[in-house]
Amino acid sequence: MLETKNINFYYGNFHALKNISMKMEINTVTAFIGPSGCGKSTFLRLFNRMNDLIDDTHLTGECLIDEQNIYHKSVQVDELRKKVGMVFQKPNPFPKSIFENVAYGLRVNDIRNKSFIAQRVEESLKAAALWDEVKDKLKKSAFELSGGQQQRLCIARALAISPSILLMDEPASALDPISTSKIEELIYSLKKDYTIVIVTHNMQQAARVSDKTGFFMLGELIEFNDTKKMFLNPDKEQTQNYITGRFG
Ligand SMILES: Nc1ncnc2c1ncn2[C@@H]1O[C@H](COP(=O)(O)OP(=O)(O)OP(=O)(O)O)[C@@H](O)[C@H]1O
Ligand SMILES: [Mg+2]
Repeated sequence: MLETKNINFYYGNFHALKNISMKMEINTVTAFIGPSGCGKSTFLRLFNRMNDLIDDTHLTGECLIDEQNIYHKSVQVDELRKKVGMVFQKPNPFPKSIFENVAYGLRVNDIRNKSFIAQRVEESLKAAALWDEVKDKLKKSAFELSGGQQQRLCIARALAISPSILLMDEPASALDPISTSKIEELIYSLKKDYTIVIVTHNMQQAARVSDKTGFFMLGELIEFNDTKKMFLNPDKEQTQNYITGRFG
């Protein structure tokens, strides 16, 4: 369902991703790990064409979703981004009410039916495991929520427009341990409905939530394997060194 073939990506002359081929199955969680600056975020951003927003970049190779090359000129980026939601490292709610944050994506897509919007907001907040905490204060500002609640709100906002793929770039790194474990449980529960790709610096987190793990170093995909295998008995020595904390 998600596949890259021989991806090379350049920022100016800098070769940031080197010949990366990878396949991710539907309804699985894939984690990307690796030292800072190795290209995890760059690779993640390919899948909703967020890198298009950066000047002087260049891509070769293919990036396929459901066997369609998402960089083909016939692809409408707005439509693609409806299918591929993204959650960032720092919770970034809009300066709006809790309700309006989740309804936002529906409104910009010209959905006007009030009861449909209310229903979708509720479903999304439930899916993001936030509903019980906010159902009595939907009109309050999103900024009145804790950091962990704000991050779940951002997940609800991403879910509201019914994507099939969810990209998460270190979604729990700014959160305390309890909020982090809530996000991890959430990721686990979402995978029955979504295909999830997560970047994390937290090795235990990758081991806990993902089915497959990709280890990157200096723009290369060193190893891509079943998560269990990756953490118990990786094929590559570099992976072993990294996960046991010998560098990186
Ligand atoms: N907008 C940009 N312009 C130029 N170079 C960039 C840009 N964004 C990233 N890079 C470079 O590309 C490389 C990969 O960066 P990227 O952000 O993908 O790494 P990362 O693995 O996500 O790191 P981290 O774990 O620190 O988030 C780095 O060397 C970085 O300096
Ligand atoms: Mg990054």
